[in-house]
Amino acid sequence: MTYNPVTTSTWVPLTIQDDSENLLKIVSAEKEFVTDEDGNVWIDAISSWWTMIYGHRHPKLIAALQNQLQSLDHVMLAGNIHESAENLSKVLLELTHLHFKKVFYSDNGSNAIEIALKLAIQYYQNHPDFKPRSEFIVFSNSYHGDSIGAMNVSGKNYFNRIFSELRFPTKEFPAPNCMNCPWGKHPTSCDTECLSDLTLSIKQNEYAGIVIEPLVFGANGMLFYDKKVLIKLRELASSTNTLLIFDEVFTGMGKLGEPFAYQKAGVIPDLLVLAKGLTGGMLPLAATLVPNFIYELFLSKDPYKAFFHAHTMTGNALACSVGYASISMLQEFGLTQVKELEIKLRNHAETFQKKMGTMVENVRVMGGIFAFEWKENVANDEYLNPVGKQIRNSLRKFHILIRPLGRTIYITPPYTISDVSLEKIFMALGSTLLGLLEPEKD
Ligand SMILES: Cc1ncc(COP(=O)(O)O)c(C=O)c1O
Repeated sequence: MTYNPVTTSTWVPLTIQDDSENLLKIVSAEKEFVTDEDGNVWIDAISSWWTMIYGHRHPKLIAALQNQLQSLDHVMLAGNIHESAENLSKVLLELTHLHFKKVFYSDNGSNAIEIALKLAIQYYQNHPDFKPRSEFIVFSNSYHGDSIGAMNVSGKNYFNRIFSELRFPTKEFPAPNCMNCPWGKHPTSCDTECLSDLTLSIKQNEYAGIVIEPLVFGANGMLFYDKKVLIKLRELASSTNTLLIFDEVFTGMGKLGEPFAYQKAGVIPDLLVLAKGLTGGMLPLAATLVPNFIYELFLSKDPYKAFFHAHTMTGNALACSVGYASISMLQEFGLTQVKELEIKLRNHAETFQKKMGTMVENVRVMGGIFAFEWKENVANDEYLNPVGKQIRNSLRKFHILIRPLGRTIYITPPYTISDVSLEKIFMALGSTLLGLLEPEKD
């Protein structure tokens, strides 16, 4: 059977509703593989939108889920607490070396961002010494989710242009980009020139926060940048009493080789946002981590100081138990595996670069991320650059699933991916791209 977005009863997301798009019907999954209804086995090379960090249906996560099902599935987390949430909160806070004091749960990255924004705004409201603040510093190539608030602190682009009327005030600055520095600088010699406008502005205005993904702007092109930027932002935020909010929905849970990217950069944020790999991708769960200096402003009998925010499924016991197992696995073997994966990706990247020569740009690896730009339609740097879809469809012939970001092609495989599967991905990429260079036959 064939399926397309128009004929299914389900509205498939982030997809042009056109009957020429061929949907795979997936019936099962295991490790880095998913299987379609015809029995074809596919490699999930981007870990289903960066979530399945240990691959699909890891036995330890299944065991944690089954075990939790024996006692408690869900109970509302207002008026109640349960061990599953407490266990995960404690282990998460320990992983931050207790830089954070409280964990606020939600069920997706966008919500966890909304919570961070609302906490930041209320922090100033509750603070006896500060005037209210509500404007955020944001970056051009950023993506923080699709709900109104999360969209608002993302860079303005064609995804969110339709909703621009709904924007609350933000001040957008160009995203730092150490791959193609507009100042022609190198991280070893730069003086964070990319932050000079921001530096002036933050000194002249009272912003509530700076929202940024540390070290990698994921969804808008896998842009890598140096920790110098974060060090400078930390300095600026501290000296102006502005909250520094790190969105680690993508970079957290070991993606860059440390539990959190902020630890790799050595820069501690004021609010930390996590989702995606938190449960190893098995169940929806997100968390916003709050330090004591913010939390203590909410410690009051005055109801006007309380943070009135909840989602019905906040702190779901099944998700928290799987999250706890996922953190244990990260400590037990996940971090070692990402580091090994990084070495393998670097080796593959070197060979790939030699094979592709000047047709690829910015071949790069950080932790479990491999990315590059295909040098075609260079003027069109947006997601809709058709070459992305062309490459995605060509890789389907090799039974490999990717979702390029325009001409930025990347993989983020599970940390547990086998050498054979990795080899297959790079072989398929090479062969697909070389095929694109061949003149079309009549
Ligand atoms: C950095 C970042 N923040 C937030 C989000 C939004 O997360 P969710 O899709 O779970 O709402 C995403 C999703 O891709 C993301 O990459």
